[in-house]
Amino acid sequence: MNVILGVGGGIAAYKAAELARVLIQRYCRVQVVLTAGAQEFVRPLTFATLTQQKVITDMFSSESAEATLSSAVEHIAVAQNNEVLVVAPATANVLAKMAHGIADDFLSTLYLAFTGPVVLAPAMNDKMWAHAAAQANMAILRARGHRIVEPEDGFLACGTTGPGRLAEITRIADAVVEAAAGTAHDLEGETVLVTAGPTQEPIDPVRYISNRSSGKMGYAIAEAAAARGADVVLISGPVNLPAPRCVRLISIRTAQEMHHRVFEELEAASIVVKCAAVADFRMKEVPVQKIKKTAARMSLELDPTPDILAELGRKKGDRLLIGFAAETENLRQEAARKLESKNCDMVVANLVGTEDTGFEADTNEVVLALRNGEFIEIPKASKREIASEILDQVLKLRLARTAVHGR
Ligand code: CTP
Repeated sequence: MNVILGVGGGIAAYKAAELARVLIQRYCRVQVVLTAGAQEFVRPLTFATLTQQKVITDMFSSESAEATLSSAVEHIAVAQNNEVLVVAPATANVLAKMAHGIADDFLSTLYLAFTGPVVLAPAMNDKMWAHAAAQANMAILRARGHRIVEPEDGFLACGTTGPGRLAEITRIADAVVEAAAGTAHDLEGETVLVTAGPTQEPIDPVRYISNRSSGKMGYAIAEAAAARGADVVLISGPVNLPAPRCVRLISIRTAQEMHHRVFEELEAASIVVKCAAVADFRMKEVPVQKIKKTAARMSLELDPTPDILAELGRKKGDRLLIGFAAETENLRQEAARKLESKNCDMVVANLVGTEDTGFEADTNEVVLALRNGEFIEIPKASKREIASEILDQVLKLRLARTAVHGR
């Protein structure tokens, strides 16, 4: 998801850097726009470093006439290329300009050109917030349908205590994700069971067999499904990611534990997305004590783990079953083979082992293999965007099935 983060000139501007970081963690691409006032409090470089994007600081920043012309229409391009506009902190001045359509800098001009959902997180002195003029502007902005993340009560930079403090960063990030999901609560009524991350199979009490799955793709799917109104259960191997919001998270370590929890949760599920990179083998027997280095070489005796997806394929009933295929070659053939052999309704195949697709990357590029023999290529995008495309396809399968069987 592409988000514009507008930063107004208040002391809370420094907190906007943390907001940028949290949004990136939630699979957003963040375009920062700093007002002149914001630049008095924070440096563009902070945001450029965090977002890896050019930070917009001025309406007419370039020197040549030609460049000025192109930057003069940049606000239109930025408005068109992003899905959500969030302003945090939204100062009294920024809010007043938005309420009355004054377009005298990049952010206020961009606001007029932007047609998507707008999230505003006001922050100012408590007296300013309470002033009739500020409240009248807020009423206009609320009536326009913008989401307001109300400021909190607390200690303010001016030394007083009262309402006016910028809301908690996670509250603002939640509002952005909700705004992006918009009215598309198209997965309401569905219970989506997602597995994510690697599994770890112990070799002895201190070592394990695992893989490089980061869990990012599965977490993005879980979060996107929840934002679209589904009840989501996420069964996850050990990963280094925050729990997605509005999702019931079950943490497991081994393939055996994942197997156990998946079949415990299966009954309630209507859609199963099997994104986890499950280890295929585990130790035949795990010694109680650490294995000592006694020989120059050693071999481990391994047994296969249960193939959870294949078993789901046999027991799925009328649930939709989405498998994943992580491949280093022959993407389409492997996807088609797994679709058939594991009785899935769709297989999402991706190339692993390259830098910007696969396990650890924030972006991905996948091919969806469908039962009618069709392959749908999804070009490189953020994992959040890929998640949303996968869910769009899942919804199509669901609607097609409902049309045939009823539900
Ligand atoms: N999978 C599973 N249980 C296993 C192994 C894999 O549920 N023990 C699931 C994964 O969650 C994924 C799909 O099977 O959805 C494909 O995983 P992948 O590792 O690509 O395929 P494998 O079945 O292991 O086949 P191969 O090793 O031949 O590529």
